[in-house]
Amino acid sequence: MKNGTNFVPGLEGVVAAETRLSHVDGLAGELIISGFPLVELAANATFEETVYLLWHGRLPIAAELTTFQHKLAAYRPVPPATLALLKSVAAESAPTMDALRIGAGTLSLGISEERDWEIGRLGDSGNLPISQSLNNPLAFAIVARFPTIVAAYWRFLQGQEPIVPRTDLSHAANYLYMLTGEEPSAARVRGLETYLNTVVDHGLNASTFAARVIIATNSDLVSAVTGAVGALKGPLHGGAPGPALDTVFEIGVPERAEPVLRAKLEAGERLMGFGHRIYKVRDPRAEVLAAAAEQMFAADGDMALYELAKEVEATAVTLLAEHKPGRNLQTNVEFYTALLLHGLGLATDLFTPTFAISRAAGWIAHCLEQQRYGRLIRPQSTYIGETGLVWQPVGVRG
Ligand code: COA
Repeated sequence: MKNGTNFVPGLEGVVAAETRLSHVDGLAGELIISGFPLVELAANATFEETVYLLWHGRLPIAAELTTFQHKLAAYRPVPPATLALLKSVAAESAPTMDALRIGAGTLSLGISEERDWEIGRLGDSGNLPISQSLNNPLAFAIVARFPTIVAAYWRFLQGQEPIVPRTDLSHAANYLYMLTGEEPSAARVRGLETYLNTVVDHGLNASTFAARVIIATNSDLVSAVTGAVGALKGPLHGGAPGPALDTVFEIGVPERAEPVLRAKLEAGERLMGFGHRIYKVRDPRAEVLAAAAEQMFAADGDMALYELAKEVEATAVTLLAEHKPGRNLQTNVEFYTALLLHGLGLATDLFTPTFAISRAAGWIAHCLEQQRYGRLIRPQSTYIGETGLVWQPVGVRG
């Protein structure tokens, strides 16, 4: 409360939507995605199954999944104008998230939007019917083309030509293929799918809220998703996964974990990859990603790095409990995200864009939900400025 109004800085604790998409319980350390505990879904589903689940409210049967996969895969190539634009952006060496935002804005080229629901038809999110067939081509184009934009831009940055997407690979496999030109191993594909499933939706986070605000004006999906990319880019949201990995590399060997981390805490630094605004127990996403990283590193990677990260994690949690007793500072999603994505061969600059590749499906699901609800989001502000000022022509202003 401020100034006798209901103003809540940062809208903390304010409920601004009802959703069937995901539920975050920060005290119990639980994340539910469309009814499934994260741990059930993340390591079992393909990314396409998870997207279908979010968009339709249920898992597909085999024939539905095949149709859905083919439809998504067919949208993978981006318009030539998008590629030309990305090439000129690469000449300026802009960060990949900037290129994704620029490229995302072009995704309406050549596609006209078909809405799946009449806006405002229901006006009550408690009784929403679940869509049986989702037709909006922009929804498919956005999810299918985000990986193409990121991979093409990444290759332009390295002075290489983009690799044409393949339709015979899964969404995750094709992304890795377009980055490197090599067909990835099954272990790598599984590792990436588990990551994509894990971060696909997370309640009313900042970028999802931004997308819902935009679509609620009766705007279009490309506008909503482009705004959401801008929100995700910020270091307070999705823009800070690299430093956790830097700390692991700085430590180098397990014996150095305690002295290095202790010195950081004594110098007043925060340990990256630990602590969370909502989760006061271990972030359930960290749990899932740690298991995925272990599986992937064991099958196809540098197990010594995984063992080092485990040691760093255990030491950090112990030292944080000593340093900030009662705060319950636990491992968050960034710690194992960084490890897993590094293990997949992704450079640090690709971490946040890869997050966006997944979250785009969640943003769209929220947009579809918001469209069904059909109510403009328009909160109020409290005026705290002056009143009664008297106009003075420019020449006489002091
Ligand atoms: N290392 C050391 N101390 C930490 C810490 C960390 N990772 N996270 C929180 N703390 C300390 C704070 O300094 C604060 O101490 P104080 O009360 O003596 O000032 C106390 O614990 C509570 O922290 P607070 O700032 O209230 O937590 P928050 O909920 O606002 O912040 C984060 C959450 C994520 C911003 C914070 O934990 C952080 O900066 N973590 C490191 C960065 C990171 O991993 N970000 C990715 C998040 S997914």
